[in-house]
Amino acid sequence: MSERGDILIVSNRLPVHRVRAENGGADRWETSPGGLVSALKPILQTVGSTWIGWTGVDDDDRAPFEHDGIRNHPVAISGEEMRGYYEGFSNRTIWPLYHDAIRPAEYHRSWWRIYTAVNQRFAQAAAECAKPGGLVWVHDYQLQLVPEMLRALRPDLRIGFFLHIPFPPQELFAQLPWRRHLLRGLLGADVIGFQTRVASENFVQLCRRFLNIRDRGTELQIEGRSVIARAFPISIDFGHFDAMAGTEAVAEQARMVRARLGDRRMILGVDRLDYTKGIDIRMRAFQDLLHTGECRPDDTVFVQVAVPSREKVEEYQELRSNIEEMIGRINGKYGQVGRTPIQYLHRGVSQDELVALYLLADVMAVTPARDGMNLVAKEYVACRRDDTGVLVLSEFTGAAHELTDALLVNPHDVDDVAGAIKIALQMKPDEAARRMHSLREVVRQNDVHRWARSFYEELGA
Ligand code: ADP
Ligand code: F6P
Repeated sequence: MSERGDILIVSNRLPVHRVRAENGGADRWETSPGGLVSALKPILQTVGSTWIGWTGVDDDDRAPFEHDGIRNHPVAISGEEMRGYYEGFSNRTIWPLYHDAIRPAEYHRSWWRIYTAVNQRFAQAAAECAKPGGLVWVHDYQLQLVPEMLRALRPDLRIGFFLHIPFPPQELFAQLPWRRHLLRGLLGADVIGFQTRVASENFVQLCRRFLNIRDRGTELQIEGRSVIARAFPISIDFGHFDAMAGTEAVAEQARMVRARLGDRRMILGVDRLDYTKGIDIRMRAFQDLLHTGECRPDDTVFVQVAVPSREKVEEYQELRSNIEEMIGRINGKYGQVGRTPIQYLHRGVSQDELVALYLLADVMAVTPARDGMNLVAKEYVACRRDDTGVLVLSEFTGAAHELTDALLVNPHDVDDVAGAIKIALQMKPDEAARRMHSLREVVRQNDVHRWARSFYEELGA
């Protein structure tokens, strides 16, 4: 596919995780679930490929290893560095700031120094691995300085960067003490991809304002080079989810879950337990419906899967207590013996179980206060092969730009969310089918393979 030979991917985490052996056997590596890995795998397996990232274990300086046709090149990060680079600067400075500052962003010079040092290590590893004139694709907010650092080490490379999360408007980004450094870091790339047009426009405006960069829309001029900055909305492997939804293993899972839930309508939420996801608002909306009697515990159940995430970060610990307390209160007040209105799972689920839940959900509630894209919304749609089911979707997700036949809601307005859930539960089958059919076509046509191909082509493969 590429005349330049190998492609190199650089991301915070490797696409594999270690699975502990039982009975004293050897640990093994498993491919991690997720859109990025399944999007890139087909491309990576046809050309030679190396993935640079963290194994998930502190101080892991193991030698590069091969798994499933991809060479994994670990970057060692110490526990103390993880606190500054990952828990600190990535997840307590950048993450809240880029998500509309729905939690205050903290600015610490010590975190910045560690973020810079760890980015330099990733850049160094990439510089050592890349073939002459090769392609390097750097991912996400943990590594925004890598493009510039890598270009300084290896000016012969073509460098792409894709940001999976939102890119904030000027008023917010301008708070960052290191705003110019970060913009210059990203501008080291030849192609910078964002989830939405708004995000890429924010970036271009900031480059004009803080770096006096000249641009022609999506093309910026810097030091005699041109840099493309534009939207490449990420997607999912539609064919994979569509096919999984038709398998016997999933049907069996769905029968088991249905037997446990009984003949109740099901509303579903599936998220990492993250304060950006608006889990609290949808719980409050459901509480309102229980309060008015529009939903009763014997006719409706809300299943919320909350995947543990970033558990060492204070805001995530607080969120967990608040959500669990809220759910306990609602269940205590409105539950009946044998009938709990909210079923809450604080764990990951297998992909069979996840798809079974998508199949059982009459209504999928996706209500983030801000989200770069939201793949769960697209996965739900891909699994609804018979055009049933209704998607309630926050206007503040990247997905809302494409999934305009969902019931779009303002996640800051409890009444709006409650109203949409009510409309969804009562929607006539032909109206639901019309909407779902059109949503499925959007995701089918703009799947993750198309996303990866278009970025890869822009990069010059
Ligand atoms: P984010 O990237 O912020 O976590 P997305 O909705 O974009 O949010 O992507 C979440 C991804 O994680 C989806 O691909 C989804 O299938 C996957 N996922 C969600 N819940 C689980 C789970 N319980 N176990 C494993 N993977 C999950
Ligand atoms: O999409 C944002 C993101 O941080 C990805 O980079 C990452 O794969 C996912 O969320 C999970 O986050 P973490 O790696 O912090 O567990």
